[in-house]
Amino acid sequence: MSVLKRLFRILFDRAEAFFDLAFGQRLNPFAWLGALGWYFFWIVFGSGVYLYIFFDTGVTDAYASVEYITHDQWYLAGVMRSLHRYASDALVVVVVLHLLREFSLDRLRGKRFFAWITGVPSIFFIYICGISGYWLVWDQLAQYIAIATAEWLDALPLFAEPIANNFLNSSTLGDRFFTLMVFIHIFVPLFMLLLMWVHIQRHARARVNPPKPLATGTAIMLVALSLMHPAVSQAPADLDVVPGELGFDWFYLAAYPLLDVVPGGQLWLVIAAGFMILAIMPWLPPAKPSLPAVVSLDNCNGCGRCFDDCPFAAITMVPRSDGQDYDSEAAVNLDNCLSCGLCVGACPTATPFRRATAVVPGIELPDHPIAKLRENTVAASGRFGDGPRVLVYACASCGMDSTDPEDAQVLTMPCIGMLPPSFVDFALSRGLADGVVLAGCASGDCYYRLGDTWTSQRLNGERDPYLRDRVDRARVRHVHLRATSARHRHRRLGDFRAALAELPRNEPKRSRQDA
Ligand code: HEM
Ligand code: SF4
Ligand code: SF4
Repeated sequence: MSVLKRLFRILFDRAEAFFDLAFGQRLNPFAWLGALGWYFFWIVFGSGVYLYIFFDTGVTDAYASVEYITHDQWYLAGVMRSLHRYASDALVVVVVLHLLREFSLDRLRGKRFFAWITGVPSIFFIYICGISGYWLVWDQLAQYIAIATAEWLDALPLFAEPIANNFLNSSTLGDRFFTLMVFIHIFVPLFMLLLMWVHIQRHARARVNPPKPLATGTAIMLVALSLMHPAVSQAPADLDVVPGELGFDWFYLAAYPLLDVVPGGQLWLVIAAGFMILAIMPWLPPAKPSLPAVVSLDNCNGCGRCFDDCPFAAITMVPRSDGQDYDSEAAVNLDNCLSCGLCVGACPTATPFRRATAVVPGIELPDHPIAKLRENTVAASGRFGDGPRVLVYACASCGMDSTDPEDAQVLTMPCIGMLPPSFVDFALSRGLADGVVLAGCASGDCYYRLGDTWTSQRLNGERDPYLRDRVDRARVRHVHLRATSARHRHRRLGDFRAALAELPRNEPKRSRQDA
């Protein structure tokens, strides 16, 4: 499994790096696949509501009403029909890419299983919606789908009477089935919306809206496609005639031609096995557990910054339990905590400058104590060679490690959002390095969702705790890396080293006694 993940990661990294050239990292569509899924869903939903106004739900008049929509009112209803179709196709594409990408990033194992396991059934429902939608047009394609689906369903021991009997000829066809399809096509999307909402329940500030430029560009492309290549019906259905050549939508109907070569029962088995495999993937193999964040009440002042910054809604602020004169304290939900450390980066008490007491912040990761990070920062400063001394704080997902060339000293942590900005101040004001690099994932595409955004905001003074003004920004660099691109990584470090070479050596601003 890990070889497959690695392979997909390399492919995605290549494709994403290419898209970076056109869109930049922030607007890279690959970083917004889940949000684009929501976006296409809303387009399908909105256009569907409009089409429903003009659609006749009886089998005898459905075709004529779709013809009216397509030709007589082409300027609005016709465009809506095309948008409905193309956004549905786009939904399949982004959801499949989203699934493969989350897999390649390994964002499905351990406590992250929830989004995966609630995502899997959405694929099934997307297909039910799409297939039932093609059925409603009641043209020759719909006729083909109706008969093939009925025969396929008859391969399952579900119905006393074969349902294919409904489609033997025009005299056996009743409104019953058609009405059922209309019902399915309207209610399954509503159920899907509920499922999509559940899907993001373990995400704080889930990204369900793509950024404006991406949303606008996508909408323009869909409208342009709708005008240039409008969705049209095929000849009307006639059960007394076998459909001839059919225009096909491979996004939704790819399984149907297989029914000509594979018996229906076997195809059901393959599909069921596929879903089973998808469903157990979060445990293939189970993730190594990591220790969740721990609150130290002695040092927690109830400020709530950890609560604001946690990407996985794992912190709640609860009434004070230890009699200290604060209203609230942080409490960690162990089932949701992914040990990313973003709460540590947010906590005002996580500072290396403390002298009076041991460095124990209000919240921390037992596997990555702040006191140890301080110790490692000081120790790293003793290992530099002759050139500019570059200290790198790196997240574990960005690919930066201690084997990077030259003699940059690399200290890794789960997410760069775990680093309290005061560490940068500490390293520079004590003269422990000439420059500090904060290395994280691609911009807006953090493995732990928000670490990269919070880091940028903290460095820019837009979010507490922020980097103090006194820190010389020329000596600080926040780099956004793609894990499999060592060349890019080395180039960024090289650039920074060259810039530092132009500056004088960074001497301590204060006494070194406690460094
Ligand atoms: C209608 C279809 C779907 C929509 C609209 C959708 C949307 C989303 C959104 C908005 C997010 C949150 C992104 C963020 O804020 O970081 C997300 C995360 C995720 N989705 Fe989906 N998704 C869909 C289907 C799926 C499917 C089919 C799978 C895989 C089986 C899947 C797996 C995941 C995973 C693993 C995450 C990330 C969890 C994490 O960060 O821990 N999703 N999805
Ligand atoms: S370690 Fe991450 S997931 Fe856990 S409480 Fe802190 S911010 Fe939330
Ligand atoms: S950020 Fe630190 S001090 Fe503030 S509530 Fe969280 S643990 Fe307590």
